[in-house]
Amino acid sequence: MSKYKIALLDGDGIGPEIMVEAVKVLRLVEQRNDVEFELIHTPFGASAYFECGDPFPEQTKKVCDEADAILKGPIGLNHEDSKKIPVDMQPERGALLPLRRRYNTYANFRPVFLPQGLAHFSPLKKEIIGDGIDIMIIRELVGGLYFGEKETGVNAQGLRYVKETLEYDELQIRRIAIVAFNTAMKRKKVLHNIHKSNVLKSSVLWNEVMDEVGKDYPEVKVINILVDAAATYLCLNPGQFDVMVMENMFGDILSDQGGGILGSLGLMPSACLGDDKAYYEPSHGSAPDIAGKNIANPYSMIGSVAMMLEMSFGMEQEAKNVWHAMQSVFAQGFSTPDLSKPGAGVKMIDTQGFGDLVVEELRKMPLVK
Ligand code: IPM
Ligand code: MG
Repeated sequence: MSKYKIALLDGDGIGPEIMVEAVKVLRLVEQRNDVEFELIHTPFGASAYFECGDPFPEQTKKVCDEADAILKGPIGLNHEDSKKIPVDMQPERGALLPLRRRYNTYANFRPVFLPQGLAHFSPLKKEIIGDGIDIMIIRELVGGLYFGEKETGVNAQGLRYVKETLEYDELQIRRIAIVAFNTAMKRKKVLHNIHKSNVLKSSVLWNEVMDEVGKDYPEVKVINILVDAAATYLCLNPGQFDVMVMENMFGDILSDQGGGILGSLGLMPSACLGDDKAYYEPSHGSAPDIAGKNIANPYSMIGSVAMMLEMSFGMEQEAKNVWHAMQSVFAQGFSTPDLSKPGAGVKMIDTQGFGDLVVEELRKMPLVK
């Protein structure tokens, strides 16, 4: 029997309630397979700051260091509450970025997936969606503006100024390029490289390295496209994209747009991989406005579990089963309020209800031998 230790970082806002649903799925996966999960909840984010004065406390670092994988809920507070925490201790700067840095999780996979049958979830017209949306956004996650040097001060004219640095070296670009090309090889062998080389020097180097790495993958067709144009095409013709690769900040923005064209950020799970450690998280925020109301969509959290099963534990078939279980809940006309437009004839369910139905569907799936 395989045994895995999983650190559970519930996070803030809706984090704890969608984590409960993810844990239900993990427990069922355990029953269905020759596998045992040791699940260790440990504080992280604003809640951890208020509990122990540190958004990424030592005890959490230790649990994560020892874990085989990390499952993380969303973090963050609303604009007003954020001000109760010193700027550098706010959970994004004080916990999430340090987590990414600590484990060097440079490869962020953000699937943007909507089968044709669920086209009604999307704000896009049916004819634009065509056969459905199936894109893998690959975002570089530990470089660029997020991690570059920052400076603030008052300049010679007495004006407050700020300086942030967008920095990449060729190794950082090469390793994410390799991830992107390998992913393209496993899919349709088409890779959209997203850049802004008409303005940014960082994109000039990025593209040079992409070209160099591309020589090792002659079967992959590379399409270079400016980031602003890519934003437009995501709305006008998302079907042209399969694998997209981009630097950190572009990936932050375009992946939220990905959630937008699906109809909800609640449909955006993700995997963040480093060479030695991986963590899994919804791509969206902690939605403090709906926290505790049992209406959040746990799809992104359960989808992150599916990605963990596949990418950290090699349980590919069971991961597919989890995806199918979620799709089959939708196919029966159920969904959480984020996806239910008035009059759309959707059977509205709550967070817990969604998790329960996923578990029920998963139970029906053939066991993996
Ligand atoms: C994301 C989030 C984070 C980011 C925030 C919470 C710092 O928006 O994972 O996309 O900007 O990377
Ligand atoms: Mg984001």
